[in-house]
Amino acid sequence: MSTEGRYTITAALPYTNGPIHIGHLAGVYVPADIYSRYLRITGNDVAFICGSDEHGAAIPMRAKKEGVSPQVIIDKYHTIIKKSFGDFGISFDNYSRTSAPIHHETASVFFKKLYDDGKFIEETSEQLYDPEADQFLADRFVIGTCPKCNHEEAYGDQCEKCGSSLNATDLINPKSTISGAEPILKQTKHWFLPLDQYEDFLKEWVLEGHKKDWKTNVYGQIKSWIDDGLRPRAVTRDLDWGIPVPVDGAEGKVLYVWFDAPIGYISSTKEWAEREGKDWEPYWKDKNTKLVHFIGKDNIVFHCIIFPSMLKAEGSYILPENVPANEFLNLEGNKLSTSKNWAVWLHEYLEDFPNQQDVLRYALTANAPETKDNDFTWKDFQARNNNELVAIFGNFINRVVVLTNKYYDGVVPKPSTFSDVDKQTLAELKAYPAVISSSIDRYRFREASQELLNVARLGNKYLADEEPWKLIKTDEERTKTIMYVALQIASALATLSEPFLPFTSTKLKSILCHSTLDLETTWNEINSRDILLPANHKIGKAELLFSKIEDTEIQKQLDKLEATKKANEAENKTVTPQKDSATFEDFTKMDIRVGTIIEAEKMPKAKKLLVLKVDTGLDTRTIVSGIAEHFSPEEIIGKKVTVLVNLAPRKLRGVESEGMILMTETPHGKLVFLNPDEGNVNPGAVIS
Ligand code: 2FM
Ligand code: ZN
Repeated sequence: MSTEGRYTITAALPYTNGPIHIGHLAGVYVPADIYSRYLRITGNDVAFICGSDEHGAAIPMRAKKEGVSPQVIIDKYHTIIKKSFGDFGISFDNYSRTSAPIHHETASVFFKKLYDDGKFIEETSEQLYDPEADQFLADRFVIGTCPKCNHEEAYGDQCEKCGSSLNATDLINPKSTISGAEPILKQTKHWFLPLDQYEDFLKEWVLEGHKKDWKTNVYGQIKSWIDDGLRPRAVTRDLDWGIPVPVDGAEGKVLYVWFDAPIGYISSTKEWAEREGKDWEPYWKDKNTKLVHFIGKDNIVFHCIIFPSMLKAEGSYILPENVPANEFLNLEGNKLSTSKNWAVWLHEYLEDFPNQQDVLRYALTANAPETKDNDFTWKDFQARNNNELVAIFGNFINRVVVLTNKYYDGVVPKPSTFSDVDKQTLAELKAYPAVISSSIDRYRFREASQELLNVARLGNKYLADEEPWKLIKTDEERTKTIMYVALQIASALATLSEPFLPFTSTKLKSILCHSTLDLETTWNEINSRDILLPANHKIGKAELLFSKIEDTEIQKQLDKLEATKKANEAENKTVTPQKDSATFEDFTKMDIRVGTIIEAEKMPKAKKLLVLKVDTGLDTRTIVSGIAEHFSPEEIIGKKVTVLVNLAPRKLRGVESEGMILMTETPHGKLVFLNPDEGNVNPGAVIS
């Protein structure tokens, strides 16, 4: 169990190009929050640091799409993200943003120090350039085929399919996302961090130093990067969005976002220290401080190779003690995606499930993608709540509090002699803090969450075996002892649940009136103290900690996703390719007129067909049209339509059709008429 150490805990700075979704939460913020809360309540000095990453290339891209400035985008999402984290109970000590002056200053000074110390290579190289848009292309602005997995829509900096980090020049068949043009290579000067020179350091520090204590998924990815051979990496870009490169001869260039973003951890720590009247430096420079980065697997190379090399090059900083990166979370079988709106958005969850932050925290922790990608399903979310939080945790607490109020007016009874079962149960209870700590210390949060639930299971089993509700009639003394033991378990749960279920923990502490105790039990003391809730202590009334989530609520969420799926399908519907070219003569062969539908009826036994009588201006003729699933006969009588009148007649279900009504289709597959209804055209008018 870690106590009285100093910890700097960082959680990946989210890009402000969209809100936070459950993938971010499960991969980074919930585990980081559990860890930070746990460290605090076990007596450590913790700086839990985060902020918005506002220089990502996707931000100007989104701004362009929405027709606003990048500043509007970052302000909008920074506000949404910060608020939703706060409402969700993520206990950052500081949440900053990389557009803050303190960050620009810190990142510039960092760059300048490396520059002055000769740590960069200055090189004129060929970079991808969009000849149509007349600008250099950030890696994100280039898509093409991934050289590692052949995914055809990989981004220049990363393939979202296989997770590989890429250089845009590695892509096969690259295309600019700005104009669609094939990028050309154009010369430009940049500064590179020669990662190859850090290979020996990285091998010794990670490959030898952390083989045993780092997660195998993280270690494996680092090893494969190093085994592939490290190359110098450009840390500047030709862009107009970012931190200007602070040296002469770098006009029009900014720091690479992955150079400035991790420095954001340092500037956010400075901002916090300034506000709290503390010194930031020990949190980053004292070798006794443990620095832990919580990230998703797509960020491993940046936090385990590039940033440590930057810190090493600077020379005065500590290196991360661990980087417990998680795998990805999927949603109902599909990859989470901000651009495709395939997500459960945190701010929407908080609206749809008010005061149920802990349910989502728990569902995401119990199913965390710690060693492999996992799937979030609304059914699992419902089951975790109804079968675990309600049926096990909530049920135990409710029984204890209700019975204590019913039998003893809410006063903890004085126990008499403890039976072997009582002693055994209390001994088991005392062991739990160490059991849960051991899982958390190894970053196994899902295991830890299940051990927490086992504490409630212990309580439920104890009550079910001892049956105080029966004994109250025959043995009051024994009942008092049983309720006393059960109350000790409830009290331990209030403390042990704090990192995982902070809102529930607060509520439970309030029900058990922890604040009126002479000595509130801490995590570390559960093991050593015999009494957590003493006899005669008065507790409050029962309140439900969790409530059942009904099928209708889940269905609402599933319907929302279904609507997203449909919208995406409609958007992706491929445009029918253009047909072979027609000569002007070909075109003039077609006689297209305006007509009026004067009669319409369903074709018997044909689901799709209507039989129409159409006034074409030339005559009134019969046309059979396949529109019955889209229009009722009544609604189209009197409608003006466009008719191909010289289409050779053909028989449909025995009725001769003498022409064709021209139609088109919405992206959702609904047929619509071409629209000569607008304006004052007469039947017989030629379409040309
Ligand atoms: O992947 C991302 O969302 C990045 N914005 C994470 C940055 S982490 C840190 F380096 F700032
Ligand atoms: Zn790939």
